[in-house]
Amino acid sequence: MSDQILGPGGSSPQKYRVEAEPDPAELVAPTMREMSEPKDGIAPTPVWLLLFFFVLAGWSGYYIARSAAGFRGDVYAEHFKQGATTFHKPAAADPLVLGRQTFNNCMQCHQDTGKGIPGTYPPLDGSAVVLGDPATPVRILLHGLQGDVTVEGATYNGQMPSWSHFSDEQIAAVLTYVRQAWNNTAPAVDPALVTAVRKQTSSRAQPWTWPELVVASKTPPPPVAAPAGSAAPVAAPPAAAKPPHP
Ligand code: HEC
Repeated sequence: MSDQILGPGGSSPQKYRVEAEPDPAELVAPTMREMSEPKDGIAPTPVWLLLFFFVLAGWSGYYIARSAAGFRGDVYAEHFKQGATTFHKPAAADPLVLGRQTFNNCMQCHQDTGKGIPGTYPPLDGSAVVLGDPATPVRILLHGLQGDVTVEGATYNGQMPSWSHFSDEQIAAVLTYVRQAWNNTAPAVDPALVTAVRKQTSSRAQPWTWPELVVASKTPPPPVAAPAGSAAPVAAPPAAAKPPHP
C-alpha cells in the first residue's frame, strides 16, 4: 500500500481538471453595461431641442401677427355668443355710424349742429372746404390747422388740433359724416385717400396754414388701391383742384 490518496469508497483518485479562474470583471460586465452609473455634472441641452423651441417661437410670433387682426375691438367680441348675428358685422363698420361716433370729438368746437361758434370755431355745415376736394379736409385732420382761414365769409384764427392718431377708417368716416350731415351732401370719403395723404405728408410735423394747404392741393396724393370691401371710392378730384377760399 502506499500513501496514495484514495477517492470516495476507496476508488482510484479522481482526476480534476483545473480550469482557469474566470475574471470577475468579465462576469459582471453585462450588468455594468446595462445599468450605467449616473454621471456627475450637467448634460448640455441638445441642439435639436434648442432649434425646436426656436422654430416654435418664430412660428408662434408669425401666427399671432397673422391672425390677431391688430387686436381690433370690432373683430374680437369679448362676450361673443355662438349664433349672435352681430359678430361679423359690428355696427361700427358703417362709416356713418363710426363717423357720428367720432364726431363726438369735434362737437365741443364745431357743435352738434355743425354751425361752430361764430368768431371762434368755423362752421362745418355748408363749408366749401368740407364739401370740396376731400384731400384738403383729410390734410387738416391729419395735421391740424392754424392761422387765418375764411369760412363762409367770416375769418377765423384759431387752432384746429391734429387727429392723426385716428385710423384711416375713422378719419374717412368722420369726414363722410360731416359731408353728409345737416345740409351737406357730398360723396363719402374713401379710407384709401386718407392712407395716401398720410403717406404723402408723413414728414410734416406742424399744423397747416391756409396758404400751405393751397400749395399742397396742387399735388394730389398718388392713388392707392382700395382694399377689397372698403367703401366705394370717391370720384378722383380733378388734378390741382382749386381750393375754395383765398
Ligand atoms: C379744439 C377745437 C376743435 C376741435 C375739437 C375740432 N376742431 Fe376743427 N377747427 C377748429 C378751428 C379753430 C378751426 C379753424 C382753424 C384756423 O382758424 O386756422 C377748425 C377748422 C376745421 C376745418 C376746416 C374748415 C374750413 O372750412 O376751413 C375742418 C374740416 C374741421 N375743423 C374739422 C374738424 C373735425 C372733423 C373735427 C373732429 C375730428 C374737428 N374739426 C375738431 C377747432 C376745432
